[in-house]
Amino acid sequence: MKLKTLSLVVLALAVSGCGGVDPNSPQGQRQSIFKQMLKVSEDLGGMLRGRLAFKEQAFVEGAAKLDQLTRTPWQHFPQVRDDGDESRAKDDVWQRQARFQELAQTMEASTAALVAATAVQPLKPEALTAPMQRVEDSCKACHEEFRAF
Ligand code: HEC
Repeated sequence: MKLKTLSLVVLALAVSGCGGVDPNSPQGQRQSIFKQMLKVSEDLGGMLRGRLAFKEQAFVEGAAKLDQLTRTPWQHFPQVRDDGDESRAKDDVWQRQARFQELAQTMEASTAALVAATAVQPLKPEALTAPMQRVEDSCKACHEEFRAF
């Protein structure tokens, strides 16, 4: 009996702990998309702040990629919360869905505006700073309201 209890505990730890989020679950999928969004937006911000060399082509492609990505995480927040303890989403995501969707739309509008700014040739980093700031502010606004830490 004791041994059985122990093995159940071990099993539970194996399933829930140590980065054990199923990559195909809604939680796993949205977290993977958010990570890609972070990578792309850091590269774009880095190019404007001088951390990375500004490359026109790379910026245009990155902005388009980010715009595509920002349209995709929201579908992986199911109507009813289903995730484990590794989610950083606050309960508010489900309690205030209209507000969450509103911030998701603000996000999409900001990346669309960034893409529009990259259509102006020749591309000048100075002209991209404000639209990029708006993108970063959109990430931050939602995290402050809906992400636990
Ligand atoms: C409308 C709300 C919203 C917007 C906009 C948003 N996020 Fe998030 N983000 C969340 C929530 C909620 C989580 C927690 C998801 C979870 O753990 O289940 C999260 C998690 C993340 C994570 C952690 C993923 C992980 O591995 O656990 C990263 C990184 C991230 N977001 C980056 C970004 C970036 C970069 C942007 C802007 C380009 C952005 N987010 C815009 C709501 C948002």
